Amino acid sequence: MQGGDPEISFREFNAQKDSGDVAALFNTLYPSRPVDHRYPVWRYTEGPLPGGALVATANGVIVGSCAFRVEPFAFGPRGRILGLHGLDFMVHPTWQRKRIGSGLAVRLRDYASRYGANFIYMLTNVKGARVLTERLGWTRLSTIATYRCAALPISPGEMNQARISVRHHSGVDSALCSSLFARQFNPGDSDVVPVRSTEILDWRYRNDPRNQYHMATIALDGRLSGYLIFKWFHRDEHPAEIDILDYVAAVDTPVTFVVRELRSLLKVNASANLWLDGVFTRGDHDSPSGLEPTGYTSTLVIERTDPDCPGFVSIAMPLGWHEAF
Ligand SMILES: CC(C)(COP(=O)(O)OP(=O)(O)OC[C@H]1O[C@@H](n2cnc3c(N)ncnc32)[C@H](O)[C@@H]1OP(=O)(O)O)[C@@H](O)C(=O)NCCC(=O)NCCS
Repeated sequence: MQGGDPEISFREFNAQKDSGDVAALFNTLYPSRPVDHRYPVWRYTEGPLPGGALVATANGVIVGSCAFRVEPFAFGPRGRILGLHGLDFMVHPTWQRKRIGSGLAVRLRDYASRYGANFIYMLTNVKGARVLTERLGWTRLSTIATYRCAALPISPGEMNQARISVRHHSGVDSALCSSLFARQFNPGDSDVVPVRSTEILDWRYRNDPRNQYHMATIALDGRLSGYLIFKWFHRDEHPAEIDILDYVAAVDTPVTFVVRELRSLLKVNASANLWLDGVFTRGDHDSPSGLEPTGYTSTLVIERTDPDCPGFVSIAMPLGWHEAF
């Protein structure tokens, strides 16, 4: 650099040229879970949904990136609307606070209009992204707490445990997930819900080069009534952390019961941590009994890009996440 301000520019991610540099950016920001060049390629170019990523360069070197995915949401009688999901929003620490993140976020609007998305959303757990998007006029929709299940007291009579059973499956049966999603979310009601298909679930849970996913099914009176997807991290041969994703239960099953069953099925030792986002606690969103808040929260921020986007709707993520915007 010859002195003076570096030249910052923005362009589309090129899988062949940029995947190693974007993987390196991931590894700088999240060193505990390293990825290689295949990860951004899988994540940004191989999924069934339209999407991609953009990169920011300083004097030609990648210093930031942000990906997006255009996700269909079912919304009552309107049929489908599209949400542009911003993800992997990253600026190299040396280059932060120079408006590079803002430049990336603003450019998501171009993609929203290119793809006809009715709103843009991002789920963030850092202050910088929250403040930055709010400065750009986005709305803070909700805060989602992550809970830890250390002990799971279930009050007697909370449910008839004999009727419900949980089974662990070593892989993910995405056809099953798809049919349960379809059954649970009826687009005839007023919720905005993401539309999932076998194709999306296969891509996400079966082809991820970084994570291996498992599934547990929930049966009520012997009839399949729900599932959850989880991944776990082994340390010293023991599963030390379990992360639960995509919980769908067609019955109002207390999540604490399911988690306790899962813990015993997996023979997880008592010190193991099991993490759940508040979004899973559909029935007991305000006071999820038996779950300890970890202090770790994520914030959902959105920007409406279409004036016809419903002004007040309830957004129910597949995990039972109800908020208004
Ligand atoms: C979030 C992130 C992408 C922001 O990128 P950035 O290029 O530093 O952001 P900008 O320079 O455009 O910030 C614009 C404004 O947002 C606010 N902001 C940005 N980072 C902030 C921080 N760490 N704390 C408080 N406010 C912050 C400020 O108001 C800032 O303006 P100012 O510098 O004039 O005060 C970057 O901090 C990052 O990569 N963090 C680590 C990865 C991550 O957690 N990403 C979010 C996942 S959703």
